[in-house]
Amino acid sequence: MNNQNWNVQQYKESASFVPQLGTPVMELLAPQKGEKILDLGCGDGKLTLEIKKCGCDVLGIDSSIAMVNAAKQLGLNAQILNGESLNFNQEFDAVFSNAALHWMTNSHQVAAGVYQALKPKGRFVGEFGGKGNIQDIVVTMSAIFQEFPEFGEFNNPWYFPSVAEYSKVLTKAGFNMEYIELIPRPTPLSNGITPWLKIFANGITNHLNKEQQEIFIKEAETRLYPLIFSETQGWVADYVRLRFKAIKNP
Ligand code: BEZ
Repeated sequence: MNNQNWNVQQYKESASFVPQLGTPVMELLAPQKGEKILDLGCGDGKLTLEIKKCGCDVLGIDSSIAMVNAAKQLGLNAQILNGESLNFNQEFDAVFSNAALHWMTNSHQVAAGVYQALKPKGRFVGEFGGKGNIQDIVVTMSAIFQEFPEFGEFNNPWYFPSVAEYSKVLTKAGFNMEYIELIPRPTPLSNGITPWLKIFANGITNHLNKEQQEIFIKEAETRLYPLIFSETQGWVADYVRLRFKAIKNP
């Protein structure tokens, strides 16, 4: 089960790179004035707002109440909804998603819901963690859990498919693939690895007591230092993006 919590303030302070690095996938979406667009996993709404500025009628959805409230504070139309439980019927010209689909492990259910939400020939454009994403971080976290049996089992909450795997998911749902690519994108973490772990990996550790959580953070930082820290670049996470555009085959 994913117990991930989202802290909007921490996200603003140490994860603003997430929407800032969304330009390529926004260009792939190419939102057109008057289009109706669903932003799946809208987070705090930074990119949803960019879509709105293009003259689109955009709805942001997210499973986090805190994130939906942050999006609403930007004047956006946003609602709490899990991407694995979409219930729209042929309403949208496009469904867009940035840095969210790796949190939705039932990819077939998501793809079926997106397909149903789109008008005939509608497009599904997104970017998320692909095969190999944050591998050093995941392997390190898993090793810590193995060495501290009192932490329990390591439950990896993320879905990082290959091009072949995700193409199969989308074609099975009825889409035609127009573009899909796996893109290594080393990502500087300007505030270091500790805030990153607190923002993105709290679902993995929030069953631990305070002392255990501190041990986990210290171990992770110590072990990751030789892997993803350098004097010249600081902390750089080994992100790999899976970027795609798929068309609903009516
Ligand atoms: C990402 O690839 O954007 C990501 C994956 C897992 C945790 C945090 C970010």
